[in-house]
This record gives sequence, structure tokens and C-alpha cells, in this order.
Amino acid sequence: EHLAGHLPTRLKGLDKALCGGIPFGVVTELVGPAGIGKTQFCLKLALLASLPTSYGGLDGQVIYIDVESKFSSRRMIEIGSKSFPEVFYREGMAKEMAGRILVLQPSSLPEFTDSLQQIKVLLLQNKLKLLIIDSMAALVSGEFEQTNNPRQHPLAWHISFIKSLAELSRIPIIVTNQVRSQTHGDSLFSFQHTVGANCQRYLKIAKSPISPPLQFCFEITASGISL
Ligand code: GTP
Repeated sequence: EHLAGHLPTRLKGLDKALCGGIPFGVVTELVGPAGIGKTQFCLKLALLASLPTSYGGLDGQVIYIDVESKFSSRRMIEIGSKSFPEVFYREGMAKEMAGRILVLQPSSLPEFTDSLQQIKVLLLQNKLKLLIIDSMAALVSGEFEQTNNPRQHPLAWHISFIKSLAELSRIPIIVTNQVRSQTHGDSLFSFQHTVGANCQRYLKIAKSPISPPLQFCFEITASGISL
């Protein structure tokens, strides 16, 4: 059983700290260096949102905005079949779930703007349960030097649009970035490498309306991210 208003990550300590999982109605930002596992985390969340409710999912559609063409349906199905074998071994289920995850690959800022407009239409139909934008900064890479004025950010309009989508629709929205922005998430997870012997990667709840700044060691296996 999961709490209303959260998408459980099934990463036990993390869900507990977050009082259920990724909160609905706000933007959650995943920040960390290239290759740390943000996309792997997003793939798992997409699967969780599309899982039938009888298996603890949200039974909904997911929009995955894949800015850098890093989405892999093969990898997603691998994570799904290893993490939720009871669902994936049912006839036709992998295909049905994959069909619920709509991948958009805007290659320019105007195309991204169009994608957001499409999302608004789907939201009105009440079927969309999760929006993922991987990655946000890649849309303007090279064009933007960090400024102290968030209004000068070339994505300022998009960021406020996304925040209003979260508030109005009450769905969770995930945004990834390699560096922390001053503008995005109400809730922020920071992914880092460690040089310690026992833990190579950890994720930290860097900002949250409800959780203290806890950190969790994780690894990436065939079944995706695990704590
Ligand atoms: P950027 O998008 O470049 O910022 O990186 P990211 O944080 O999104 O990294 P991503 O989620 O793509 O993680 C890449 C890491 O995930 C790799 O270094 C691998 O360790 C791991 N990984 C990726 N694919 C697989 C896979 O099929 N199997 C396993 N076991 N690990 C994988």
C-alpha cells in the first residue's frame, strides 16, 4: 500500500524518508555528474508509474522527454523484467507497459515548447501520471552562462510552465541536470560518486519540504538502481 500523493520508488529507506516516495504536485530535480545513474533512476520511475495498481503502480501514462537520446526501451524492459518479474512474465504485459510510456525527443527549444503543449492536452484527459525531463539543461547547453537572475535563464518560461503543470495536475515531475540550478526543484536529490571502499555512488536528499538531508548508498545492477 502506498500513500496517496506519492510515487513510491521501492527504495525502502528513501521512501520512508520521503513519507511515501516522489511527491505529487511538485518538481523533483535529480542533479549529478554524467554517468552517475540519473537516467537509470528515471527509467525505474517510468516503469513504476505505468505498473498496474494491483502491483503498486499508478496504472498511468508517462511522458519521458528524452533530450539527449539516451532513453533505451531495451534497458527499460530489462529493468522491468528483473524488478517486476510477476508483471513482466504475463503475456503481452511488457508491451502494454512500454506502450504507456511516450518518449518525446525534442531536438531544439521550440520543439521542447511544442512537447510541453502536447502534455497539457494529455493532462486534460487525466491519464498522465508522471512527466520526466532528461535532461533540462541539455536543451540550452553552451548558450547559457550561469546568471544570478533566474528571469534571464533561457528556460525561465519553461521552468515556470513545468512548475504550474505540477501544481495544477498534481502529478510528480522529474527533471534531471548535471549541475544544480537555482531555479528548478521544490525537492532535489543530489547524486554523487564517492571514493570510499564500501560505496561508489550515493544519493542525497539535498532539498525536501519534509525530509532531513539523508544520504543513501546505491548501486546499479541489471534490475536498475538499488539501495
Ligand atoms: P548523464 O545523462 O550523462 O548526465 O548521466 P546519467 O546520470 O543519466 O547516467 P546514467 O543513468 O546513464 O548511468 C550510466 C551508468 O549506469 C553507467 O555508468 C552504468 O554504470 C550504468 N548502466 C547503464 N546501463 C546499464 C545496464 O544496462 N546494466 C547495468 N548493470 N548498468 C548500466
